[in-house]
Amino acid sequence: MKLRHNPASPYVRKVMVCAHELGLAARIELLTTAVSPVETNATLAAENPLMKIPALVTDNGEVLFNSPVICEYLDSLAGGGKIFPTGKARWKALRQQALGDGILDALILCRYEVAARPEEKRFAGWTDGQTRKAHQGLAALENEDLSGRTIGTITAGCTLGYLDFRFPNDGWRNRHPGLAEWYKAVESTPAMQATKPPAG
Ligand code: BEZ
Repeated sequence: MKLRHNPASPYVRKVMVCAHELGLAARIELLTTAVSPVETNATLAAENPLMKIPALVTDNGEVLFNSPVICEYLDSLAGGGKIFPTGKARWKALRQQALGDGILDALILCRYEVAARPEEKRFAGWTDGQTRKAHQGLAALENEDLSGRTIGTITAGCTLGYLDFRFPNDGWRNRHPGLAEWYKAVESTPAMQATKPPAG
């Protein structure tokens, strides 16, 4: 399998944490891919018309995106039901995944506002609104039962990792000591250590 990949992307990290947890990481060839909210990447567009990563080219040549779809596909390759639980637990895991992904969506919009938009065109009200979504999402995450290793808890871990990576002054640990305690253990797992974003 080939994965359109960038080590800074938290959605890519989700996929790779799942791959490590499921014992599939060695079967995935990483194709480092530049992405931008404004530039066209024709190579990526040929595989994913949305020009977003991660995109996985399976051994059959089929392309899968986005991260929830790829993660569930990897789970199926590992026999199914490993990180995507069945029954009632599935809905909890999917809700936690949606919460983590939603926080990431808001954070990445904030990141692009600073990293990709010229200063004179920035809109503080936009960034404030996205930050509120991210902060409310984190408060909800603190109230979730994050026990076990599911797509929900993996997404929560990658979300907190992205906050540390791109928003080191956010202060989320002070607002959410319970999440901070939980993340201390998660951060040190081999899958999280193997997928750390680059420095800087
Ligand atoms: C980042 O550099 O923060 C980033 C890169 C790719 C996708 C999303 C975020």
